[in-house]
Amino acid sequence: MTGSLVTLLLVVVTALILRWRRPAWYWMTFGVTLAALRVAVRYASVMDACGLTVPPARWRLSLARMTNRPVPESRVPRILRLRPTRTGLVLRIKLRPGQDAFDVASATDRLRHSFGMYGVTSRELRSGIVELRMTGYDVLRRVQMPAETGPAPMRIPVALREDGSVHYRDYRAVPHGLTLGATESGKSVYQRNLVAGLAAHDVALVGIDCKQGVELFPLARRFSALADNPDTALELLEALVQHMEDVYQLIRSAQRITVDVPDADIAAGIWDLPADIRPTPVVVLVDEVAELALFATKDEEKRRDRIVTALVRLAQLGRAAGIYLEICGQRFGSELGKGITMLRAQLTGRTAHRVNDESSANMAFGDIAPDAVLAAIQIPTDVPGIAVSGDSTGGWTRIRAPHTSLRQAVNICNRHADRTPDVPALAAFRPAVAPLASATAPLTKAAPTTA
Ligand SMILES: Nc1ncnc2c1ncn2[C@@H]1O[C@H](COP(=O)(O)OP(=O)(O)OP(=O)(O)O)[C@@H](O)[C@H]1O
Ligand SMILES: [Mg+2]
Repeated sequence: MTGSLVTLLLVVVTALILRWRRPAWYWMTFGVTLAALRVAVRYASVMDACGLTVPPARWRLSLARMTNRPVPESRVPRILRLRPTRTGLVLRIKLRPGQDAFDVASATDRLRHSFGMYGVTSRELRSGIVELRMTGYDVLRRVQMPAETGPAPMRIPVALREDGSVHYRDYRAVPHGLTLGATESGKSVYQRNLVAGLAAHDVALVGIDCKQGVELFPLARRFSALADNPDTALELLEALVQHMEDVYQLIRSAQRITVDVPDADIAAGIWDLPADIRPTPVVVLVDEVAELALFATKDEEKRRDRIVTALVRLAQLGRAAGIYLEICGQRFGSELGKGITMLRAQLTGRTAHRVNDESSANMAFGDIAPDAVLAAIQIPTDVPGIAVSGDSTGGWTRIRAPHTSLRQAVNICNRHADRTPDVPALAAFRPAVAPLASATAPLTKAAPTTA
């Protein structure tokens, strides 16, 4: 008897300590079972309390009246599936006639505390079927990415969403992205995660880091071209535009449209080309983009105009040539001069880390998802890395990238250094790095040749 009491006490204490110190472990050991039981037992009463019931059908009322039975109870949405996950529960329900997905969406906060969960979000899967994703703990406090994230070409699992699902940066679906945020808000760590994720893919990485290269040059082994000042950046961007034109020539020469070529075989982009002649896709990462757009003298102004023009051309025409832009900065608005808002309009994927004012958040979301603006300015200062991510569909979600240190990113890039492709048009910008055996030697940069 005493033995089982001591065991019970030990289990309770272990559960409490885990819940306090390691919520993810607590969830997987005790939390998931308790929460599933709680949801199953309380389901009907919670739905009733949250106003998610409908009156019984008329025929059942009439039948009860005719047979002198008690009046049937209100009906709750039918549970189709309750699935436990690493971070919470996924409840799929079928709405009753007269209910809509908006009813459920507006009740998520009430459902959250009624079921004793940390967060609840809802989305309509198809007409009348709603999925409630519930998290058992704050998944963004200590981000742990799942080991298996479903590999796909040019799709990088870069962060975790607040509902516990993985947030992907899918370059083929959303070719260009803009990441904004105040200083120390986590932009460079987000970009570092992208580089670490892209390193294992067949892709050429091109970096422009006007902070004297402190963020991207340590990762040089996996980069096909790097620039650390606006002058080199201009030459690099113009070389990229040249590369883009070469790729379009290649696509044209591969088209050879005749009547007997099936529709599906006509190439309009690099992904339609046969794998043996397909050029390597290029991801261009720009950190601190404002540095490229600022000028003090007439000459610098000319350089700025050429840089912005090249960026706009890459953003407008790059997708089909497999050139994807990933731009990071603190602000990116019309105060940076002409051409900037035009460039911004081409950057579909928007991510805003903590911003200091509404106008910065507006630069990310003002033109696509106005309610995400409010979410971006509410990001607290003491949790760097939290961001709001939206796209042109108007949807948005809170995300946080795992804290990948520069050392971890360097190790990943070094491991995949042999995947670094040579892009002939960018050969002059390839960083010269010491062989891996003497990896402690300082990295030096090749002097770019002037075109
Ligand atoms: N996802 C994250 N998880 C935990 N900590 C983070 C995360 N992202 C950033 N940090 C912390 O915040 C610090 C600042 O991050 P980072 O250098 O990415 O900011 P930044 O927005 O690029 O700043 P700046 O504009 O000055 O370059 C990092 O050193 C790191 O300690
Ligand atoms: Mg930075």
